[in-house]
Amino acid sequence: MYILGLTTLGDSAAALIKDGELIAAVEEERFSRKKHHSGFPYKAIEFCLGQAGISLKEVEHVGHYWKPWILRHKAVQALKTGLISPAMFKARADRGVAQVSESYLGMFRHPQRLREHFGPSDFKFHYVEHHQSHAASAFFVSPFDSAAILTWDGTGEDTTTLFCRGRGNKLEVLKRIKLPHSLGQFYSAVTNYIGFDMFAGDEWKVMGLAAYGKPKHYDFFREKVLTTNGHGDFHFDIKVLDHHLAKHYQFPDPIVKELGPGRKPGEELTEHHWDVACSAQKALEDTAIHLVQQIKEMTGEENLCMAGGVAFNSVMNGRIFHETPFKNFYVQPAAGDAGCSLGAAYYVWHQKLGHPRSFVMDHAYWGPGFSNDECQAALDAAGLAYETLDDDDLLPRLAKMISEGAIVGWFNGRMELGPRALGARSFLADPRRADMREILNHKVKLREWFRPLAPSMQEEHGREVFGVEHHDPFMITVINVAEEYKERIPAVVHIDGSARPQMVSRKTNPRYWRLIDEFKKLTGIPMLLNTSFNVQEPIVCSPKDAISTFKNANFDALVLENNLVTR
Ligand SMILES: [Fe+2]
Repeated sequence: MYILGLTTLGDSAAALIKDGELIAAVEEERFSRKKHHSGFPYKAIEFCLGQAGISLKEVEHVGHYWKPWILRHKAVQALKTGLISPAMFKARADRGVAQVSESYLGMFRHPQRLREHFGPSDFKFHYVEHHQSHAASAFFVSPFDSAAILTWDGTGEDTTTLFCRGRGNKLEVLKRIKLPHSLGQFYSAVTNYIGFDMFAGDEWKVMGLAAYGKPKHYDFFREKVLTTNGHGDFHFDIKVLDHHLAKHYQFPDPIVKELGPGRKPGEELTEHHWDVACSAQKALEDTAIHLVQQIKEMTGEENLCMAGGVAFNSVMNGRIFHETPFKNFYVQPAAGDAGCSLGAAYYVWHQKLGHPRSFVMDHAYWGPGFSNDECQAALDAAGLAYETLDDDDLLPRLAKMISEGAIVGWFNGRMELGPRALGARSFLADPRRADMREILNHKVKLREWFRPLAPSMQEEHGREVFGVEHHDPFMITVINVAEEYKERIPAVVHIDGSARPQMVSRKTNPRYWRLIDEFKKLTGIPMLLNTSFNVQEPIVCSPKDAISTFKNANFDALVLENNLVTR
């Protein structure tokens, strides 16, 4: 039985499962080349069907990540409860509530859209609640038979935070927190306060910048903005910091009075902004830990699964993993809305149809892959000279080039699902070179100096590098690097001595593991610096994308499977 899962607004994506096994999953942005593509994921669906060699006719169920009939009356509710002023309400309404509603109503046409585009089919269409899609995406592909599940994001239909328990093939909702109390919207509002862009997914930047600041305004955030005083949940006071106004770089008086006017995009970034980022980050972390402790008390479970955009906050995750009583954790690599496509499909398979669990997602390589012949055809078409080498020749040669300072565009196997490059579409460099962060951020990726870079390392070496065992194949946790190791890998250690490693398994990506092994033989270091293979656009998907990035960007070598291009 084939089940298709869909995310259709913002980080649109499709996933296809067959008898409970994942066949394919991919974000639409990788095909459209528009970051965070929002709209019906035609190309992603086409890829998933093609990967299985089927047509839509063979799909029996479609799971959709949103229930469009739970109308988003959040603004009206907020007005009724006095949480926002009539002036603020009007500002919001003027700025496109109607337009947004239209795109949600458009979801009712999705079954028809599918048939119009992909041909007749008798599939049954299921609208799954957004946060339950997140919860399913975390739990049903986890290695746990039972777990607590916490999902948190900007918002679903009206829920922003969901507490669930997963047991076998069933999810049970325990509790929900609704708008306007949203950790994601809090963090997005701070993102725009610092002059970044929440719509561009700039929340990463706040987290990166936070490492440089001091929590000078922590008390303000915890007492006035994001509070947990006196009740078990949390309270986001939108009279002080309002996500919807922040979208337009407008900020209520209380925050301006406390922190000064927000930074406009392009204005100078000062230490004050580092401190605001640091304070907000710490407020988020402490609120999150409060909620994690609560779900621990509610469930008594030993395992915790998390999803939703907030679960991408790897610094927060690091603290949750090390400071809360849960023993085991699982966050799949597409923890944001793209992963809801996966979740909606699994929700139908397990929760609705009652099938037993059988699948564990232990790697992220569910996107398109290309043969050597396809890579060579693309190189020929682009007029690039290349050498074709066996791995026995290629991998030691690449390791040597990297150890001598080369930056390599590495294109290997099926593309990653999720925003992190994990050794399928990665820029690789030498983590020992202190200047690599500057070179990669400034000269190659054309982005801010403070963006952290991360290592991909052989999973066998966790204790040596961190002083403790660490398992994280998806690069979603920040962990402290052992004192004696820090100086050896300056390019991938953050200013506070932490790193965000991908633990590479010989089993799930043998070729990448082997390349790292060749680097280790030369240098004694069991890791490479890994950052996503893209310059100001979505991660490259096809050989053609990789070639065009190579032609337009400043890095030394391109590897398309077994084909090597040097400048
Ligand atoms: Fe979400």
